[in-house]
Amino acid sequence: MWFEPKIVFEVVLLILFLNQSSAIKYRFNFENEGVFSDCANEPRSVKNMEGLADLSEMTFKYNMEFVALSGNITYIWDIQPGDRVQCDIQVFRFDRGSWLPTILSLSIADMCSKLYDESQYWYKSWTKNIINIDEIKDKCVYPGTKAIHKSFDLDIVIEISGLPWRGLHKMIFRFKAFDSKNVIRPTSICFAIVGEIERM
Ligand SMILES: *[C@@H]1O[C@H](CO)[C@@H](O)[C@H](O)[C@H]1NC(C)=O
Repeated sequence: MWFEPKIVFEVVLLILFLNQSSAIKYRFNFENEGVFSDCANEPRSVKNMEGLADLSEMTFKYNMEFVALSGNITYIWDIQPGDRVQCDIQVFRFDRGSWLPTILSLSIADMCSKLYDESQYWYKSWTKNIINIDEIKDKCVYPGTKAIHKSFDLDIVIEISGLPWRGLHKMIFRFKAFDSKNVIRPTSICFAIVGEIERM
C-alpha cells in the first residue's frame, strides 16, 4: 500500500530509528526480550525471523532505552541470488485488547538496492555498523550472506507530530522475493517488533 510521501516519511522515521528535528520526541522501548516475535496465524509457507536469518552469532543486550547489538547475522532464507526482495511494513496499535491497524505502512519494492544506501535511515542506524559492507553489498539477504557488525546501540527515537503516538505498538515486517520473471518465491518471511512508544 502506498500513502502520500509525508506519511511514508513518518513511517520511515519510525522504522529507521533516526532522530529528526521536528515536533515531539518519542522513544520506542522494546517489549519482548527477543526483539523479534512471530506473526500470528500465518500459513506454513510464511517463515519467521528464524527462517530469514541465523542470529546465533548475534548478541542483544537490553537496556531500558536501547538494545546493544554486536556480532553476525547470516541470512538463510531459501531464495536465489539476484531475486528482487520486497519489504512491506505495517504499524499496529494495541487498543482495548486488540491490535488495530494504523494508517502507517510502507512498501519498499526493491530492498536490495537500498540496504547500503547512505541516504537511508536504516543505513545510519543499522547497516553502517556492518564491517564487511564491501564484501556483501551486492549479496543482499541472499542465503549464505554474513553481515559482521561492530558493537552498536539501537536506540529508536522518533520525532513526529500530529499522531497519537503512545502505548503499545507493533511493526509487522513482510519480505517477499521474486525471480527475474517476477514470479514470487514459494516462501516469504513475516516477523514483528513489539514495543511501547513513550513520550520523552
Ligand atoms: C563473526 O564472524 C567472524 C567471521 O566469520 C568470526 O570471526 C567471529 O567470531 C564471528 N562473531 C561471533 C560473535 O560469532
